[in-house]
Amino acid sequence: MRKPYNEKHKTFTEVDLISKDPIEQFQSWFDVACQTTTILEANAMCLSTASKTGKPSARYVLLKGFDKEGFRFFTNYSSRKGIELEENPFAAITFYWEPLLRSVRIEGSVKRVSTEVSDQYFHSRPRGSQIGAVLSAQSQPIPSRQTLIDAEEKLLQEYNDEKIPIPRPENWGGYVVVPEVIEFWQGQSTRIHDRIRFRRPVSSLEPDGILTHQGDEGWIYERLAP
Ligand SMILES: Cc1cc2nc3c(=O)[nH]c(=O)nc-3n(C[C@H](O)[C@H](O)[C@H](O)COP(=O)(O)O)c2cc1C
Repeated sequence: MRKPYNEKHKTFTEVDLISKDPIEQFQSWFDVACQTTTILEANAMCLSTASKTGKPSARYVLLKGFDKEGFRFFTNYSSRKGIELEENPFAAITFYWEPLLRSVRIEGSVKRVSTEVSDQYFHSRPRGSQIGAVLSAQSQPIPSRQTLIDAEEKLLQEYNDEKIPIPRPENWGGYVVVPEVIEFWQGQSTRIHDRIRFRRPVSSLEPDGILTHQGDEGWIYERLAP
């Protein structure tokens, strides 16, 4: 499986941080990933949750927005991830943009977005996607694919008039992951990869100017061994 990195990847050092605010740094990497034509879904991210007993589970979801409040995605609140997030409101997110040899890891607490934000996003989606969200009891066992096709047919008839709004199901909406840790990983052709981790200071001795450095917006950052 091991292939040589043919292309020389840009060396990423501390001075290459475009910002000492990790949200701005994320914006910069995300923009590059979105502009990279070989990356079809730059916003696909692996979302890891854990049950109340600490058993992890992971799946992909799509990032639908971010700012200094956090990273937003939308899903079914009654799904497995939804239940785990109710029980244990912490998550980890991982992006991997393979053509750029870049990964970002985010960890933080999770809360629901407001119903207004969920309504707004739900109704911005194509009607077919809205119907998909209404008909799917996400994560529940079903007897067959036909069950979904029949349910879709029924809803398409019920809402065939485009003027009839499709109500957002109460158990469908958004979450925001409020970041506590954001790590930027840059693969290097030398295999001496770069890792810069932003986090909040845990004591008044941080940052010490040696291992930890002052970032913006209350963040500190440090370099980790690869
Ligand atoms: C690239 C990709 C993007 C996805 N985006 C979403 C999403 O934004 N929201 C969602 O609920 N499921 C999304 N899914 C489906 C989830 O991976 C998963 O099957 C579903 O959410 C149920 O997960 P759970 O049973 O762990 O709750 C996506 C799957 C893939 C492969």
